[in-house]
Amino acid sequence: MAMSAAPPHSLLLKKPNHRTTATTQFTGFQINPSRAATTTYKPISITCSTTTPLQDRPAATSQSSDRVFNFAAGPATLPEIVLKKAESELYNWRGSGMSVMEMSHRGKEFLSIIQKAESDLRALLDIPSEYAVLFLQGGATTQFASVPLNLCNPDDPVDYIVTGSWGDKAFKEATKFCKPTVIWSGKSEKYTKIPDFDALEQNPSAKYLHICTNETIHGVEFKNYPTPKNKDAILIADMSSNFCSKPVEVSKFGVIYAGAQKNVGPSGVTIVIIRKDLIRNAQPTTPVMLDYKIHAENNSLYNTPPCYGIYMCGLVFEDLLAQGGLVEIEKKNIKKGQLLYDTIDQSNGFYRCPVEKSVRSLMNVPFTLEKSELEAEFIKEAAKENMVQLKGHRSVGGMRASIYNAMSLAGVEKLVAFMKDFQARHG
Ligand SMILES: Cc1ncc(COP(=O)(O)O)c(C=O)c1O
Repeated sequence: MAMSAAPPHSLLLKKPNHRTTATTQFTGFQINPSRAATTTYKPISITCSTTTPLQDRPAATSQSSDRVFNFAAGPATLPEIVLKKAESELYNWRGSGMSVMEMSHRGKEFLSIIQKAESDLRALLDIPSEYAVLFLQGGATTQFASVPLNLCNPDDPVDYIVTGSWGDKAFKEATKFCKPTVIWSGKSEKYTKIPDFDALEQNPSAKYLHICTNETIHGVEFKNYPTPKNKDAILIADMSSNFCSKPVEVSKFGVIYAGAQKNVGPSGVTIVIIRKDLIRNAQPTTPVMLDYKIHAENNSLYNTPPCYGIYMCGLVFEDLLAQGGLVEIEKKNIKKGQLLYDTIDQSNGFYRCPVEKSVRSLMNVPFTLEKSELEAEFIKEAAKENMVQLKGHRSVGGMRASIYNAMSLAGVEKLVAFMKDFQARHG
């Protein structure tokens, strides 16, 4: 995406009754105008004196020698180009004389940052104008409560499909605020599957159907999505660990939520994409910080937002657009995933991935060693070669390589070369 390197940088501020499409005015990136943000803006102008275009990105295969390949599940690796850009702007953001950390969240500089972040995210996911985008706090865990508090009454039935630990946590939290039912659980099969949607026994009066589109711990990913049986019900997705890893048809969902710290930024920012007609009165006891209506009416500025985190997310969105958007990102993710899964599958059982092939995650790849006593050695040797955070989640053991958007192909190539070498020495 072309980010203006020369001042003045045209920015937009919200003002009622002045309808325009924000995205096209920020950048040269073209999006479908019918789907563009139709929030109302008033153009303002801010001079930006030190912008380094993000599109001058180094080849995806390169990696600075002073950095490790970080396979952590989150907080996770971020694009080097984004970190460098943030570094260059840390002390004095674009000639403002301030760091983003020091700015008023109501000042024109920060407003331009949050509005551009929203606009770029809308472009990336092609978010229809009838959806609001909220930048919140509290992690996806807070959304486990916010969703039922905002979308149903205490006696309302709702359905949960539980394909891993995160879906289970979401369900358990919902039991405090409504009447949820687990209509399918993969627990007895150690969370290695996604159900057949036709065989699901949905409650016909459920207010919503909740899924976790990518189970970060178990490495199970929905490749398509179920439709709620009740025609008035909505599909709700925790997309924390595959958010912006591929195109998604937002209109299939009532609410999408995601913690930023896997694919799109640092921890501390939670993104909620919600169909505007679902933003109604929450249950009366809902804390103000969990109330979508309050946040939507205040454009995510009801209280002090996680300003620096939102700025970082904005830089990541720019970078994803500069790479060609989510269609291109998905292609890269498929390539990385295939390389790693092929290495596992072609190891004659030396490495094993328990997840059913058709639903294997492109983001989190869990695997075990046939000789489990070698696992500690594997992790130790990998770390010596600058590949870190490969230990599986404490609840499942084994290994897990998280290969989010920002993990380069070079990182995965290095990992598979190491895996083959390790097998040759220990097989
Ligand atoms: C899929 C999923 N949902 C929810 C969470 C909880 O997110 P947070 O720690 O931001 O509350 C995580 C964290 O790893 C996750 O992977």
